[in-house]
Amino acid sequence: MTITHGDGCNLFDTNGKRYLDFISGIGVNALGHNHPSITRAITAQAGRLIHSSNLFHNEYQQAVAKRLASMAGLTHVFFTNSGAEAIEVALKTAKASGRHELVAIENGFHGRTSGALSITSDRKYRAPFEPLLPGVRFVAANEKKALRAAVSEKTAAIVVESIQGEGGVVPMTEPYLREVRRLATDSAAMWIADETQCGLGRTGHHFAYQRFEGLVPDIVTTAKPLAAGIPLGATIFGERAAALINLGEHGSTFGGGPFACRVALAVLDEIDTLLPNIRSTGAYLHKRLSEFGLPIRGEGMMAGVQLDTPGGAIVEAAREKGLLINCTHDTVLRLLPPYIATKAHVDEAIEILRGLSEFLQRLSGQAEDRPLVLSLGA
Ligand SMILES: Cc1ncc(COP(=O)(O)O)c(C=O)c1O
Repeated sequence: MTITHGDGCNLFDTNGKRYLDFISGIGVNALGHNHPSITRAITAQAGRLIHSSNLFHNEYQQAVAKRLASMAGLTHVFFTNSGAEAIEVALKTAKASGRHELVAIENGFHGRTSGALSITSDRKYRAPFEPLLPGVRFVAANEKKALRAAVSEKTAAIVVESIQGEGGVVPMTEPYLREVRRLATDSAAMWIADETQCGLGRTGHHFAYQRFEGLVPDIVTTAKPLAAGIPLGATIFGERAAALINLGEHGSTFGGGPFACRVALAVLDEIDTLLPNIRSTGAYLHKRLSEFGLPIRGEGMMAGVQLDTPGGAIVEAAREKGLLINCTHDTVLRLLPPYIATKAHVDEAIEILRGLSEFLQRLSGQAEDRPLVLSLGA
């Protein structure tokens, strides 16, 4: 399938077929496609200045940094070009403390660079590239005892996705995140919150750890929707973390350029306006998905439907019927609708999913008891 263009929550292929886009470029196209204020920012800045290097300030970088720091409850920002690179910066900063051990969560995903892979437990991503960074301990999600056993005064950082994305839309619980905070503080380690997928409004909060009152990490990484598809990431630090790394110890040719930053400013404005819709339409999405009688995880515009069989065929069938979702961790249907989605879009998606049981039966020529069909609660 080759995509030619998009508009709002819709994508179109070379045959002119319309798809309801409920995966939004795996969380990147949070404002949908062809959003007027993004198009305006891109067009205006393309004719003004695209790159000026990190030898100079530009008009937008400081403004985006201030916004991100204030949204996260932190103080300093380093701009990158991707989520993986933002994680690299976070890991380098934590290791600049002189400590080398890292604690990460099983089934987490942090990107494809060597450092990011080192804290990603899934063998399928890391095996061909081992040995990776030494000193990484993986602990099961939401198990406080295992976390307590893994963290010591040798720990440089505890790296946690507040809601795991690729790992099957698995939220960290409030007691667990509070324990991460407590252990990081007590052992003088850094809590690195990887908010690449679950942050920047996806849950109806600026960052997913803000679902819980008063919790602030030491370092936050973000990317995906930050500049609406123009590559831009950021590592956001508190004072204690920022003090660990010095000028010149990390750098990026493209990071924080005027083009990406002007677009990011427009994105952040829109996200602020859309937070109430993300919460209300997100809650409606979760309510309607629960009609299938299967476990639903996530929050806001991030939903995972736990199947009891692999979900690849459901994703393909949905695509045939004009709905784009994906399957992660083999058995989890993942929905990441754009923040502009309405209840009518949710209804359309649910109707398509409902119709799939019949469609899948026709496709396979099999009888009613096909497990795939049953697993959609049909
Ligand atoms: C939680 C998380 N961290 C990091 C990354 C890596 O981001 P990128 O592909 O921009 O390097 C991803 C990508 O899916 C992600 O979901």
